[in-house]
Amino acid sequence: MSDRLTPDPNVVWHATHVDRAARERVLGQRGRILWFTGLSGSGKSTLAVALDAALNAEGYATYLLDGDNVRHGLCADLGFSEQDRLENLRRIREVAKLMLDAGLIVIASFISPYQRDRDALREAVGPEQFAEIHVATPLAECERRDPKGLYAKARRGEIAEFTGISAPYEEPASPELRIDTTGRALDAAVADVRNALGLPTRSA
Ligand code: ADX
Repeated sequence: MSDRLTPDPNVVWHATHVDRAARERVLGQRGRILWFTGLSGSGKSTLAVALDAALNAEGYATYLLDGDNVRHGLCADLGFSEQDRLENLRRIREVAKLMLDAGLIVIASFISPYQRDRDALREAVGPEQFAEIHVATPLAECERRDPKGLYAKARRGEIAEFTGISAPYEEPASPELRIDTTGRALDAAVADVRNALGLPTRSA
């Protein structure tokens, strides 16, 4: 397998007839990427799942990409070094771009801890169709919740490079929305996201 990130020179792009605008016309919506970033246990996947369900029930065409799930297949070979997290995001970015081209509202939930990687993502996708949502639940609250017992393991030194404990999380400098889920009901948090990002209620 080649580790090149540019295609073989003998591979030529093949033009297609149906473009993104045509696909969006069929769906009756504009595609976009809603990117949730935050610590493990911050509530980003819970929020992303609930948003996905709410939009789907109203007839929006959505797709949810979630870190834990993607790491079961597409990214099962990757760990949590800075390099592997970068490769994780590169693959997700390419998948998300295809989905955007299909006219979908892509809801992505990844720790994505590095500012540089998130900036590159925004640039690659196109800033006007990318929204960064920082699920800014404090580390102490994430650790208190510890839904998968991973913080306890990380504190015992059983998981290396655990975000927030032994690996960095760089807070987004200027996200479209910052939301702390501490003590916030899920429905209210979903409404916060929809209001901030302009996703109006519509009937299915
Ligand atoms: S990212 O940093 O590359 O964006 P991603 O969102 O795909 O991370 O995966 C994070 C999930 O992997 C966490 O929710 C957690 O369940 C699990 N995990 C396992 N080991 C680690 C680790 N060392 N650091 C962070 N998350 C980990």
